[in-house]
Amino acid sequence: MKALTWRGVNEVGVEDVPEPTILNDHDVILEVGLSVTCGSDLHLLGGYVPAMRAGDVLGHEFMGTVVEVGRGVTKHHVGDRVVVVSFIACGQCWYCRQGLWSLCDNANPNPGITEALWGQAIGGCFGYSHALGGWAGSHARYVRVPYADQGAFPIPDGVSDERALFASDAAPTGWTGAHQAGVQAGDVVAVWGAGGVGQMAARAAALMGAERVVVIDRLDNRLEQVRTHVGAETLDYTQTDVPAELREMTGGRGPDVCIEAVGMEAHRPGPQHVYDQVKQQLRLQTDRPTAVREAVYACRKGGTVFTLGVFAGLVDKFPLGAVMNKALTLRGAQQHGHRYVPEILDRMSRDEVKTEHLATHVMSLEEGPKGYRMFKEKEDGCVRAVFRPGA
Ligand SMILES: NC(=O)c1ccc[n+]([C@@H]2O[C@H](COP(=O)([O-])OP(=O)(O)OC[C@H]3O[C@@H](n4cnc5c(N)ncnc54)[C@H](O)[C@@H]3O)[C@@H](O)[C@H]2O)c1
Ligand SMILES: [Zn+2]
Ligand SMILES: [Zn+2]
Repeated sequence: MKALTWRGVNEVGVEDVPEPTILNDHDVILEVGLSVTCGSDLHLLGGYVPAMRAGDVLGHEFMGTVVEVGRGVTKHHVGDRVVVVSFIACGQCWYCRQGLWSLCDNANPNPGITEALWGQAIGGCFGYSHALGGWAGSHARYVRVPYADQGAFPIPDGVSDERALFASDAAPTGWTGAHQAGVQAGDVVAVWGAGGVGQMAARAAALMGAERVVVIDRLDNRLEQVRTHVGAETLDYTQTDVPAELREMTGGRGPDVCIEAVGMEAHRPGPQHVYDQVKQQLRLQTDRPTAVREAVYACRKGGTVFTLGVFAGLVDKFPLGAVMNKALTLRGAQQHGHRYVPEILDRMSRDEVKTEHLATHVMSLEEGPKGYRMFKEKEDGCVRAVFRPGA
């Protein structure tokens, strides 16, 4: 079957790979309907995430139709239309039982790599390097879904494929950030990054009762989407002093919750950005923490900074002094989607969560290399390139 694969740094190819088969009783095989690029893929393309091998199938945000069911699967049948959480989790271990699904102890067959990096391994993820399990990704005609009773969710009839697709990763990631950062009714919430993840974090914060939600980016078309489809306010960081503006909006205090949805390749005008970028390229630091730094400075005393943006390892010039002295809570997580997807699908069916505007460019798998280029370079206002493997 045709699949989109990682060939090397900044190189994506279309090649023939073997079709997946059921390997465990808890697997299903899915015929992929739609599969989409995510900001996390850019870190793989840039070579910032370790343990990719040439030929690895990319893609972790997807939906499709069940075509084969393992003997132990009870919730799914051939023909069901489902969306699958990008993180893989067993549902049985201590972490899964605590609702911390992306920390599953059983879904990563290669724990050694992240144990060495972080002290402990986290769970597995489709198409996201051998460090997160080496699971084949979804940019292919078919994908094997392990622990399908846990990770696959039936899509309500009234919800389109284009909307449900984002219940796989972008939306539950946003929900993870807003919920775990403890957004309360009446809060002011600032979100850095107006990609799919930032937009969904902003929407989640609003639905959790935030009084004001402000999204920060520099790309006009994304900020426009935030105003139109998310219903949040926006700031362009190239036009304004963001922390000063946020203080102005909050009676001098700063936001109660700051959610960072940018990640390790953050951009910033000015010399600080060049300094961070050069250090990253020389591998003196693995990550560029520009937006997290700004969030820490902008957050109100006693507030919470939550990083949804992916970081791989070490950062330089991190303002720990501000975290400690301002009594901040600093948190992060890979998404615990299993916990939030039912609520998200329900809200999607009631038009409270809209996501189809994120799918700015829909194309065949053969056009994948072009799609990745457009997404990386934000060409033609690309917010997400969506692939239709059956096309
Ligand atoms: N925690 C998780 O489970 C999870 C899941 C999915 C994605 N992610 C991560 O979330 C991040 C965002 O993902 P995405 O798909 O929305 O990516 P994206 O690349 O589409 O969007 C990132 C946005 O950040 C903006 N940006 C860059 N520098 C900025 C700065 N200094 N201040 C404000 N905005 C800035 C960019 O202009 C862009 O619009 C990535 O790091 C991705 O890896 C995490
Ligand atoms: Zn993702
Ligand atoms: Zn588990």
